[in-house]
Amino acid sequence: MGSPRYRMPMRILAIETSCDETAVAIVEDGRTVLSSAVASQAKHFEERGGVIPEDAARQQVGCMLPVLHQCLKEANVEPSSLDAVAVTKGPGLLGSLLVGTTTARAIATLWKKPLVGVHHTFGHLSSTWLLPRENPKSEGRNSKPFRTSTLDPRPSSLEPHFPVLTLSISGGHTDLWLRESHTKGTLLGRTRDDAAGEAFDKGAKLLGLPYPGGPALSKLAENGDKSAFEFPKPLHDDPSLAFSFSGLKTSLKYLLRDTPTANPRDVAASYEHAICLHLIDRLKRALERHSEIQEVHVVGGVSANRHLRALLPETCPGVTVRFPTEMHYCTDNAAMIASAAEFLIQERGEEAFESFETKASLPLEIAIMR
Ligand code: KG4
Ligand code: ZN
Repeated sequence: MGSPRYRMPMRILAIETSCDETAVAIVEDGRTVLSSAVASQAKHFEERGGVIPEDAARQQVGCMLPVLHQCLKEANVEPSSLDAVAVTKGPGLLGSLLVGTTTARAIATLWKKPLVGVHHTFGHLSSTWLLPRENPKSEGRNSKPFRTSTLDPRPSSLEPHFPVLTLSISGGHTDLWLRESHTKGTLLGRTRDDAAGEAFDKGAKLLGLPYPGGPALSKLAENGDKSAFEFPKPLHDDPSLAFSFSGLKTSLKYLLRDTPTANPRDVAASYEHAICLHLIDRLKRALERHSEIQEVHVVGGVSANRHLRALLPETCPGVTVRFPTEMHYCTDNAAMIASAAEFLIQERGEEAFESFETKASLPLEIAIMR
């Protein structure tokens, strides 16, 4: 066997286009973000009530090169100094994913760099390793650093420690992983119906709020009374670590039908609280069963939720709780894809560079965690 054709740590340029965003980032050693740019189409789709897949891909074709150039410029990096190109290979909207993977294949060939296909959710799982940027130039759609947290301030000297219990909550999935390393882990629980982000989005729709619903519902809930309305506790008597959100959404529908005079702020706060309590209930059960867990990480779009961020540390005392250090790293971004590529190469070596297919559906336990 010859020596590996790469050096570690790396400087990786990553592209992420799994849904309606066009994101490019350059990250060193899986942690240090040199630049991270996201062109979001949220406004475009807010006016249309949700994402239209073909439309998203068409928009991404237009955004891709400007975002790529902006990212290189802000990082002040020449393509020749990059060690690899990484890209989200799935799951997601196929047309959108193809815009990203086709661009990544083209620039990797042009710049003569190895190409790494990354699972989108594995990107989210890696996002807690990203360090906050000191003076971020490129503002993502939610890129204001989260400074009011009472949580671990994430000093750069303090690395996360495995085993890590990771709650991965977004618009497409809700998974609870017990991870012994970046790429080795066991799926402890998964949603049986809606994802946590979907529960927010569908709830927001019932409340007449714009897409994407999570941030809007959370904003409405800010001054509401979370104890005003009682919601059922999903799967309360079920000993598994599975999740279920569809019952909460149905309860909200009936509450709005039967109590039309209910204060929307109180309704939003009570509904948000119920979603958070269900997530926390599963986390606490997992912690009780696995005393080896060192840290709890919460990632994915819903990890931007301020109520969840406030509740979690007090409900999980004695264990380090980490969220992505910037709001920008919770929702879809390319920095997490670069970080994931670094750890994939670190733990899987040459396997990380194997050719890949772009796939709309791609279970993480088959793609990586095995
Ligand atoms: O990870 P993400 O950006 O995309 C997917 O991979 O799905 O997650 C998007 C989801 C959406 O459902 C959105 O409503 C939700 O994350 N979300 C939030 C918040 N910010 C985004 N949910 C609750 N509170 C928030 N602040
Ligand atoms: Zn995502």
